[in-house]
Amino acid sequence: MRGMIRCSLVLCMILLAVAIRQALHNSSGLSSSQLGGLATRTNMSHAKPYTDSIEVFNQPLKQGVKIPRIGLGVFQSAPGPETEEAVACALQEGYRHIDTAALYRNEASVGAAIRNSGIPREEIFVTTKLWNSDHGYQQTLQAFQRSLVNLGLEYVDLYLVHSPMRVDKRLETWKAMETILKSGRARSIGVSNYGIHHLEELFANCTIRPSVNQVELHPYHTRTVLVDFCKRNGIALQAYSPLTKGRRLKDPALQEIAHRYHKTPAQLLLRWGLQKGFIVLPKSVTPQRILQNIQVTDFEISAADMAQLDSFNENLATGWDPTTGA
Ligand SMILES: NC(=O)c1ccc[n+]([C@@H]2O[C@H](COP(=O)([O-])OP(=O)(O)OC[C@H]3O[C@@H](n4cnc5c(N)ncnc54)[C@H](OP(=O)(O)O)[C@@H]3O)[C@@H](O)[C@H]2O)c1
Repeated sequence: MRGMIRCSLVLCMILLAVAIRQALHNSSGLSSSQLGGLATRTNMSHAKPYTDSIEVFNQPLKQGVKIPRIGLGVFQSAPGPETEEAVACALQEGYRHIDTAALYRNEASVGAAIRNSGIPREEIFVTTKLWNSDHGYQQTLQAFQRSLVNLGLEYVDLYLVHSPMRVDKRLETWKAMETILKSGRARSIGVSNYGIHHLEELFANCTIRPSVNQVELHPYHTRTVLVDFCKRNGIALQAYSPLTKGRRLKDPALQEIAHRYHKTPAQLLLRWGLQKGFIVLPKSVTPQRILQNIQVTDFEISAADMAQLDSFNENLATGWDPTTGA
């Protein structure tokens, strides 16, 4: 009898712990409580698959879409075996989010790796982007169709306007993005490299707002004003070039902090992005690095070290920065 009572008590405690964890997981991801939830996974050396996500909305549709917080970037991953192997490796290691673009010319390789993985399509979050030369209502619809054909997929999870640089056509383009969202062939739509003035122009002319803004973000480019604006307006931030394209990984100040956490500088940069509430998109074609870059949920950077990392800001744009243009 006493044994049965003890068993029931243990069962109740397990059910309660599962319920609390589920509640944390379901809460919209930018809160410190969920980040705390992330950091409590200390005994899980490497969770497979990686499913920590945030929910984003395309107002006024209000259809929540969950985006895994870490995605593999494939910019400058060569089309063919290099991209296929990187994506296959990432999926094997637990990534469930791939970030490509028409510009990268490797959509077909991304799609092939996804199909060959044997993982159900609905478990993988796929983003692609509309390139600058394809703006305009009809052109956008056609470019999107080409991307779907290249990917060999029936839908993408996120379709982004790659940049606001086509001043003449970007509003017309967004109307096509709304059409694509309504068709169900993109589960969410967003923008990339949009500054505040681009977003304000869009808000004044759209019926459906972007769910995300993908911009370069790392401790050497913190963009605090744009980040605050996006957060206030319910736009999730995707951090591209989160490893500074490798340019600051040898910074002694960064290395010193990473050393104290027994982590690599790359892992510290990614953890900084997660603790800021961003979705991070590290690129690698190197299997050990692909694995290393997802092993960032078993430690937490202290508030003091986060502040020190913030102080590294130098507005470093490692590629382009259309957020400041017309
Ligand atoms: N929307 C946009 O305009 C835009 C612009 C740029 C990037 N992006 C997206 O963001 C993704 C990431 O940005 P990114 O490709 O510019 O650069 P990144 O992720 O900051 O850095 C990639 C570089 O870091 C190296 N690396 C990766 N993991 C490492 C590790 N653990 N230790 C040391 N080095 C490591 C990679 O080398 P190996 O590959 O040789 O391992 C590569 O040279 C892109 O792939 C793309 O999906 C979007």
